[in-house]
Amino acid sequence: MNVDEARQRAANATRESGNSGERVNVPEASAADGPSVPSVPSVPSVPSVPSVPSVPSVPSVPSVPSVPSVPSVPSVPSVPSVPSVQSVQSPPSVPLVRVEPLGRTFEAPPELTLLEAAGFAGIRLPRLCRNGTCRTCLCRVVSGEASFTIEWPGLSREEKAEGYVLTCVAVARTDLVLDVPDAELL
Ligand code: FES
Repeated sequence: MNVDEARQRAANATRESGNSGERVNVPEASAADGPSVPSVPSVPSVPSVPSVPSVPSVPSVPSVPSVPSVPSVPSVPSVPSVPSVQSVQSPPSVPLVRVEPLGRTFEAPPELTLLEAAGFAGIRLPRLCRNGTCRTCLCRVVSGEASFTIEWPGLSREEKAEGYVLTCVAVARTDLVLDVPDAELL
């Protein structure tokens, strides 16, 4: 007897006992009663996932000690500037006087008259009174500038304008060229 037949007989017995009030033992179907139901193959167990090893904690980096501040360097006092050689005043140049047509030149410092400076240089210029009154030393300045040591030398305004000077009371302000036809060497 298979399972279905056993179930059918149990159901019939129940209906009959219900009618009579008796309990009927109906044998249950067993594996010996018929072909067994193929058992369901068990599902292979899923292998457990190996646990991920925990990452070791990174040791904390020790803090870098702060660099002490460098003390400021005191400023170096400035060295006073040394005056350059060029800035030093050179002694004033001594005017040079050339006597024409003699063609000789002499130095005429401001503290000497033209007549005196020429005499120190060995040049004889015409002269007599030496104080600007006789006009013996009268000559003409061709180029350059001269001034007088006295306020009123014996010259007219026109003579001054034309460049005439009295060498006994005149000094050179710049280099000069004098026209002294009677000049001679001492
Ligand atoms: S020498 Fe007499 S004015 Fe010069």
